Amino acid sequence: MNYISSLDNLRVALKRHVLNQTHLTSTHVLQVAIVGLGSGPDYAQILTGINSESRTINPSEIASIASLSMDVVIIGPDVDPSAVQIIAAENVLSADGILIVASNATPQASPAQPHVTDVWQSPFGSSFETITTFRLGTTMAECPTDLTLALATPVQNSFPPDVPEEVEHGAGTLDCYEFLVDLHKHIEPRFYTEIGVEYGASLKLAQCPALGIDPAPQLSVPIAAQHLISYTTSDDYFRLADTSTMKAIDLCYIDGMHQIEFALKDFMNMERFCHAGSVVIVDDIYPAHPLQGERIRQSRYWTGDIWKIIPILQLHRPDLIVMPVDTDPTGSLMVLGLDPNNNVLWDHFDSIIDHAINTMTEVPESIIERTEKFDPQARLMKKIFKLIRKHRGKPSMAGALDDIRTLINKPKLRKARSR
Ligand SMILES: C[S@@+](CC[C@H](N)C(=O)[O-])C[C@H]1O[C@@H](n2cnc3c(N)ncnc32)[C@H](O)[C@@H]1O
Repeated sequence: MNYISSLDNLRVALKRHVLNQTHLTSTHVLQVAIVGLGSGPDYAQILTGINSESRTINPSEIASIASLSMDVVIIGPDVDPSAVQIIAAENVLSADGILIVASNATPQASPAQPHVTDVWQSPFGSSFETITTFRLGTTMAECPTDLTLALATPVQNSFPPDVPEEVEHGAGTLDCYEFLVDLHKHIEPRFYTEIGVEYGASLKLAQCPALGIDPAPQLSVPIAAQHLISYTTSDDYFRLADTSTMKAIDLCYIDGMHQIEFALKDFMNMERFCHAGSVVIVDDIYPAHPLQGERIRQSRYWTGDIWKIIPILQLHRPDLIVMPVDTDPTGSLMVLGLDPNNNVLWDHFDSIIDHAINTMTEVPESIIERTEKFDPQARLMKKIFKLIRKHRGKPSMAGALDDIRTLINKPKLRKARSR
């Protein structure tokens, strides 16, 4: 199992309670002990980029660590969080040290009465682990959560030189921005969101209030007064930032980190703010060459393994209308019939991602060939946009969504219309 969600939970705990404590992070090398039995997640990997020294130890080895020497002790989900274990961890923590326990059981408070500063249950299944943060000192600063890029997965901007020429091309019948223009024109969203702003080219198409999320945008166009940008990763936005500026989403564009676990979480988080008449577009679902579809970037045209979201949604969310659209250069997935109360992806997140990363390793021919594609200029599209616009906000979208399901099975309508 990949434990993607457990690594995410630890990131959240470190950002909320450790990285904002400047006395711990700025003056010396952060000393971290990770207690596990070897079957839990490899937490050390997420300390990359933090000025830290970490050691991973077995529970029985904790006694060999000098007392008061650790800034952070992390107890993994494969260790029983008994009172004895908690006391042993407290003994090695410095006076202002922080103990983070990820477990499937509530950790037992010790007689030393450390301060439980935070307890939450992971929103991701199937483990839904509980994360408890203790601290020994009482004098720690209440600093705002660190939403900087510390601990963020690096954005992959570089790729090897001399990529063979045949790799570097797109495909598709309509530029992806023109498809977005069509959507804005016909759907007339009242609130638009996007993950991945970069130069602002897609954000500027929105004529309505909008929210863009990007940790490192490089804006080259002015941003409209009604458009907000949150300078965070999407994960941090949804788990750590104030989401009160978020309204019901009519149109959403997901174009951030090009790896399946990020794209799926982006979809799941955005769906929570959607309604039955929302439209979600996921960019980069069609690599035009297998190298473009690799998880680690190897070419200028890079879709990463976002293509996996098509079979994932088709298998796990048959209630959704999932339409891969033949846009240029790397395809767009249009998803309709959103349901903010559906928990299936949340309940099975870790196993879905484990399967996607470890089993779905080759880009299938059907993805490269775009065998399921819908033409963005087909008459069908305009009919769908009209139905969405007309029925959005009515007590039920069920009839309109059924009509769309019928329409997409009519081959004649899938042909391109003249523009
Ligand atoms: C392909 S660009 C977006 C292009 C833009 N949507 C457009 O069409 O004009 C991808 C952007 O995603 C951002 N990004 C990378 N990782 C991210 C993450 N974890 N959360 C949010 N944005 C991320 C990058 O900083 C980059 O600006």
